[in-house]
Amino acid sequence: MKYDTVLVLDFGGQYCHLIGRRIREHEIYSEIVPHNIKAEEIKLLNEKFNVKGLILSGGPASVFNEGAPKLDAKILDLGLPVLGLCYGHQLIAHMAGGKVGPAKRREYGATYVTIDKPVDVLKGLDRWERVWMSHSDAVFSVPPEYEVLAHSENCPVAAFRHRRKPIYGLQWHPEVVHTEKGVQMLRNLLFEVCKCKANWRMEDMINRMVEEVKAEVGGGKAIIALSGGIDSSVATVVAARAIGDRLTAVFVDHGFMRENEPEFVKNVFQGFKINLVMVNARERFLKRLKGVFDPETKRKIIGEEFIRVFEEEAEKAGAEYLIQGTIYPDRIESGFRKFSDKIKTHHNVAGLPTCIKFKKIIEPLRDLYKDEVRKVAALLGLPKEIVFRQPFPGPGLAVRVIGEITEEKVEIARKADKIVREEIEKSSLKDKLWQYFAVLTDTKATGVKGDARAYGYVVAIRAVESREAMTASFAKIPYRLLERISTRITNEIPQVVRVVYDITHKPPATIEWE
Ligand code: XMP
Repeated sequence: MKYDTVLVLDFGGQYCHLIGRRIREHEIYSEIVPHNIKAEEIKLLNEKFNVKGLILSGGPASVFNEGAPKLDAKILDLGLPVLGLCYGHQLIAHMAGGKVGPAKRREYGATYVTIDKPVDVLKGLDRWERVWMSHSDAVFSVPPEYEVLAHSENCPVAAFRHRRKPIYGLQWHPEVVHTEKGVQMLRNLLFEVCKCKANWRMEDMINRMVEEVKAEVGGGKAIIALSGGIDSSVATVVAARAIGDRLTAVFVDHGFMRENEPEFVKNVFQGFKINLVMVNARERFLKRLKGVFDPETKRKIIGEEFIRVFEEEAEKAGAEYLIQGTIYPDRIESGFRKFSDKIKTHHNVAGLPTCIKFKKIIEPLRDLYKDEVRKVAALLGLPKEIVFRQPFPGPGLAVRVIGEITEEKVEIARKADKIVREEIEKSSLKDKLWQYFAVLTDTKATGVKGDARAYGYVVAIRAVESREAMTASFAKIPYRLLERISTRITNEIPQVVRVVYDITHKPPATIEWE
């Protein structure tokens, strides 16, 4: 079956993939394609999809920059609806001979626009709408075959349409939640302008991923690092569906797992008849981390050691392909696109590809956001302990023990983590939180236990709300619950004398402490 599809042309904007995701939320299929795709190639894509429309994403360039990304002009003659957003909006105007130039003032964030004509993409909007802008150029005029649909103080042409063809431009970002009626704008585009039928389902995404793995691996063998987190679990089940026992899933116990983690993973995946290898590598990881304090060095060493263990297993399994559960936000934060900065080395992304000689690395979940992965996990029949599992970083408790790692410190962090989880999971808060965990800081403090002076560790509690981990707010946990957690930690873990609560958002902090 061919699905109605809207293509997103990637001009390098940070919200490009978010546009794809917003389209999928309307049960319409979407592919991200390079901005320099040719009109002919789009026609060819019709063999696979019913291409119903195109969105030109935003991007960091100015249409006047040398080497600024361009659009094949023939695309505008295909008769397909085209919506340009931000840079895409300026580019269409510029190509048509309109006037584009630096805005009087740069606009970043919430802005009000006046909707002059609430038609087509803007149907049903009020005269005064709150939208999200992020631009330095603006469109000042469009040629006579275009008409202005909206303006703002800084943008005389904040939205336009062609008078005869279904070509539109919006200076703002309807895909961002801060554009109040963004969903309505996209719905207008998809259903009113492109006349799409909403017949694409998440199940179709699973089929597509299974087919992709089948096609890539062919008759070969593949290996996957299964951490027990939702991403690698989903990738494992998808890959096993595709290639059965030609897949080997490797669970590396580096010693920084949560309480009972290895046993839990083993139990779940036994039910899926997956070829699972459990490796106890605790000693070698601890040895390599001795005397190491710097967080990025720790992450690097863990990543490297992980590769060594994994290499040995890959050799035993005779696998030529590597499957990874990398999802979209991992790729952004690891700086996979040139405009985004590297924040920290996420160990499921960095390292593996360059060091092991695999024929290919396959990342079936690469365009999905976390909540989409959860939907896929539920559809695949993974148990709810995995579906609703909070994310757990690849290096595990090693990045939650600040400074040098010792067995004793990891054990303290593990016990504290267990207490935090137990207490929060007993409360009604659990479903509202993205993550909740304990961090063993490298600060020691004075306390008093049983009438005697005690000098011991400070444990920090971190609990955050988030949608995609790109930003997060610290959770406003009731004091009573914090009190219970603190009392249990100081009572049950003799080495801890003090418990503090982290009240920092991301940004400026990150979710993990290291
Ligand atoms: P930060 O600390 O960067 O974390 O705000 C964002 C999200 O990513 C998780 N995280 C990791 N996940 N490997 C992973 O698979 C890693 O190395 C890693 N480091 C952080 C973190 O728990 C949060 O959900």
